[in-house]
Amino acid sequence: MMLPLQQIGFVQEDVDPSLDIYAEIDRLKREKNAVLLAHYYQEPEIQDIADFIGDSLGLSRQAEATDADIILFAGVHFMAETAKILNPAKKVILPDLNAGCSLADSCPADEFATFKARHPDHVVISYINCTAAVKALSDIICTSTNAEHLVRQIPEDQPILFAPDRNLGRWLIRETGRTMKVWDGACIVHETFSERKLVGLKIQYPQALVLAHPECEEPILRHADFIGSTSAIRRHARKNEARQFIVATEEGILHQMRKDCPGKEFIPAPPESGCNCSQCPHMRLNTLEKVYLCLKHEQPEIVLDEELRIHALAPIERMMAMSTGVS
Ligand code: 13P
Ligand code: SF4
Repeated sequence: MMLPLQQIGFVQEDVDPSLDIYAEIDRLKREKNAVLLAHYYQEPEIQDIADFIGDSLGLSRQAEATDADIILFAGVHFMAETAKILNPAKKVILPDLNAGCSLADSCPADEFATFKARHPDHVVISYINCTAAVKALSDIICTSTNAEHLVRQIPEDQPILFAPDRNLGRWLIRETGRTMKVWDGACIVHETFSERKLVGLKIQYPQALVLAHPECEEPILRHADFIGSTSAIRRHARKNEARQFIVATEEGILHQMRKDCPGKEFIPAPPESGCNCSQCPHMRLNTLEKVYLCLKHEQPEIVLDEELRIHALAPIERMMAMSTGVS
């Protein structure tokens, strides 16, 4: 028996194994005037059919600017929700509504409202990895690409409250020298990397540079030769003359890095256990079949209360205005 979509969060339907799913997705995209936006942490086979692959900032800009009728977002819920906030006239669909984010989950809006009320004189900067309700309580949204740039624009005497990622917050404090009150959230993927195993890899590959995402914990970041967002990590590997890189972020990014630089070696930083913990379990809920079914049925769709959308839009627009030219 098929369960209703509202219950399971994705379209449940058998896909004929002989179907040329790539050709079908392509046909449906053209027929429905849909654009496929994919984050770097998606399965390689999804990245390969995307119209645009990028980080949270790049994807938001694409979602805002698109003239497609449908935005098919291969990413997690907060990303698709941000697309809907920015471009409400479009139909925004997500292959699996269960694709959440541990950072967004770590910051319930009611608890965040209490935290904010305890610091009334603070400007609230929230990482884009949060719900629309938390965005609506924020003054400025940031991504890992523009966070430092935005914090540096806040007057020195203005206290800052930062949410929800404690690791990104701690890194920003270190980089900018600003004191900030930081919400205690973390990403389940970026906090599983093992410092002991990373040091072992550095011994094994003494020429390799370590590239890390600022969502990693301090014991990992202290070994990094470069710290930045997914797009910054990708760019750094392209430009740098080194031939080997140890990469401490979700391993989906390695797909584009290997395509960019076939002659270079990219080694994923190891998690503590022998599992696939450096794959985001939320991002990986999206599969090629779900992408196809989502486009075929134009479901599941992101639906947002209009008042909430308007409140969540203001801090995102502030981010966009304050980060022109940053990529
Ligand atoms: P960026 O791609 O913006 O660096 O973000 C990483 C991330 O955790 C997305 O969930
Ligand atoms: Fe959220 Fe971490 Fe997954 Fe990114 S990698 S979507 S921050 S849980």
